[in-house]
Amino acid sequence: MKFSRIVGTGGFLPEKVVSNADLEKLVDTTDEWIADRTGIRKRHVAADGETTCDLAEVAANSAIDSAGIKNRDIDLIVVATTTPDKVFPSTACLLQQRLDIHGTPAFDVQAVCTGFIYALSVADKFIKTGSAKCALVIGAETLSRIIDWTDRRTCVLFGDGAGAVILKESDTPGVLSTHLHADGQFEELLHVPKGISQGYDAVQNGEAYIQMEGKEVFKMAVNTLGRIVDETLAANGLAESDIDWLIPHQANTRIIAATAKKLKMSMDRVILTVSEHGNTSAASVPLALDVAVRDGRVKQGDMLLLEAFGGGFTWGSALVKY
Ligand code: ACO
Repeated sequence: MKFSRIVGTGGFLPEKVVSNADLEKLVDTTDEWIADRTGIRKRHVAADGETTCDLAEVAANSAIDSAGIKNRDIDLIVVATTTPDKVFPSTACLLQQRLDIHGTPAFDVQAVCTGFIYALSVADKFIKTGSAKCALVIGAETLSRIIDWTDRRTCVLFGDGAGAVILKESDTPGVLSTHLHADGQFEELLHVPKGISQGYDAVQNGEAYIQMEGKEVFKMAVNTLGRIVDETLAANGLAESDIDWLIPHQANTRIIAATAKKLKMSMDRVILTVSEHGNTSAASVPLALDVAVRDGRVKQGDMLLLEAFGGGFTWGSALVKY
């Protein structure tokens, strides 16, 4: 039996920082309201002309360096994004070209904030079935492009960034299990109402931007993430105390705290980047992982629970022995 194992991580945040104080000048909000309700203090926003693929490329190169591999070793590229550079080709194909890799499968996965968990799960299955040996798996977003910067209910929440991992074939695990779910019946609680096949005029009346029923999303996220913690532990015959680190999607400190409570885990075993990054959607989990690997908290052999919830609704988890 083959397994997949994370052998390198990388991350990148655009240079431009937007603080809560900056947002006070744009909309009727306060640093105190944003920090109290979400835990967010600042977020990074891509500069004009800076694209999702630009962010993904830096994160990818950083993951490749940390894994000590060559670009030519990569035989699969999966990019999770909701904000691709172009309708097509996929951001994965654009990235493949920049990395001077040719002929390998490269495709995007779209599961909004759960995108990286979906992408990791797909790459893990490629490796376990012998279809790939070394995958580049990325979550990358320029969410700032689909935000209405006059809507205080949403513009304070999101940021841009990219996180990447190198996933390699291994005789020992690795990725122990992944759990993916979706339920489209809640479409309108969190969505961009108009898209490509409905026409671009939508940009003019705000329907090309994120709209959200925050309270409903909050409740669903807390309940759903609680259930996926149970599902993941049960599938592996593990107890809460077996998890060394919770690496959650970084949407809101209160949602994260509820999941930590479910795991009977103190917050010092939870990797938190939301205050500095905001919600970077598909990028948030791999970015948080990269931060914790680089600052030495996550060490080889640690048991990690990665989880996310987002538009769709989609939700998922991955249990990973690092
Ligand atoms: N600044 C000041 N006041 C605000 C702001 C703001 N930025 N946004 C909303 N308000 C106001 C509202 O207008 C409302 O005023 P009213 O009582 O006069 O009508 C009041 O604050 C309370 O609004 P609620 O929406 O009830 O506030 P709530 O406590 O639910 O917090 C929040 C809102 C932070 C969005 C919360 O619901 C939340 O985090 N939901 C989860 C959403 C999320 O994380 N989405 C990301 C994608 S999904 C995911 O990643 C998990």
